[in-house]
Amino acid sequence: MLYLTRRETFAAAHRLFKDGLNDEENFELFGKCSNPNWHGHNYTLEVVVAGNVNPETGFVLDLKQLKEIILENVISKVDHKNLNLDTDFMKGLNPTSENIIVAIWNQLKDKIPAGKLYAVKLYETENNYFEYRGE
Ligand code: NI
Repeated sequence: MLYLTRRETFAAAHRLFKDGLNDEENFELFGKCSNPNWHGHNYTLEVVVAGNVNPETGFVLDLKQLKEIILENVISKVDHKNLNLDTDFMKGLNPTSENIIVAIWNQLKDKIPAGKLYAVKLYETENNYFEYRGE
């Protein structure tokens, strides 16, 4: 099995909050990410596909194709957007990195034309990253 990774970056705004809590209570729970007037992160997304080499092409999957799939299904919906308000696949979700990464997995899992989606990694800062492999 061979693993290939495509990296993309995006900038997005969000606010973490729970309905029913006031601003102070949300700050207790979510810290600075609960700022009522939003704030942004520069995210890095890595999409890992696992597969076997196609002897016809020497590829597992054409990386140009993978790039286009990620751009169409994820990046175009999150880059320079507000994740709470603008992103259709985040509707009703509190945009923690955990919720974002699972939603991105669901966006991509059935759209990989060769091999299969193995992992999605999301870097919220240099020091925090999240990895999801489904299930
Ligand atoms: Ni934040």
